[in-house]
Amino acid sequence: MVPKASQTMKSIVVILVCTLLLAVFQIATANDAEILTDFQLPLNVKSVDANYFTFTGARSLVGAPPPSVFNELLANFENFPSLRGQGVSASILRYPGGGINPLHSHPRSAELFVLVSGNLQVGFIDTNNKFYNQTLQAGDLFLFPKGLVHFQWNFDLGNPAIAVSLYGSANAGIVSFPVNLFASGIGDGVLAQSFRTDVPTVQKIKAGFSKHRS
Ligand SMILES: *[C@@H]1O[C@H](CO)[C@@H](O)[C@H](O)[C@H]1NC(C)=O
Repeated sequence: MVPKASQTMKSIVVILVCTLLLAVFQIATANDAEILTDFQLPLNVKSVDANYFTFTGARSLVGAPPPSVFNELLANFENFPSLRGQGVSASILRYPGGGINPLHSHPRSAELFVLVSGNLQVGFIDTNNKFYNQTLQAGDLFLFPKGLVHFQWNFDLGNPAIAVSLYGSANAGIVSFPVNLFASGIGDGVLAQSFRTDVPTVQKIKAGFSKHRS
């Protein structure tokens, strides 16, 4: 007969394995949660009008001069609450000549990128480290697959550019790798070894983030 303690251990292991499998399955199928109503109202609000479905935060960009550095205006569930549960969001991206949207990824969504004006070089890297890049002109659409590292660069020094991005999540999330890796407090030793370089080189890169944290 199996002693009681070891049976308890077995049950615990079985429960742990089941929980882990469930967690992996949840991650694999992760998407914005389904809602069971047409739309979601803010807490303690009984009814809304069309204003709830309108975002006016980008009006100030119409006719505005190009920004001096790359600038992104996000419209997601945080500043546009009616998006909650609808699985969509957007952003307006503006690049001065020479401006860059640095290497980043969106953990919760693909990005459908629409270049409205100007010219950009864009690229992403897949999980086999293959680099895909393209030069876009106004009117072009480009797909950045979900979760992959990508960038947009306005190589055209003389002309600003404007783009609109659409996401299949109300909060696609942004992991901006330069800041994520070099301005989050990871130790110099870990970074030096990870990038197969030395601590002074890591500190030199980190110094660039002490003034601008983006
Ligand atoms: C792809 O990237 C390389 C390296 O930066 C660059 O020389 C090339 O012009 C790019 N191609 C396109 C189509 O943008």
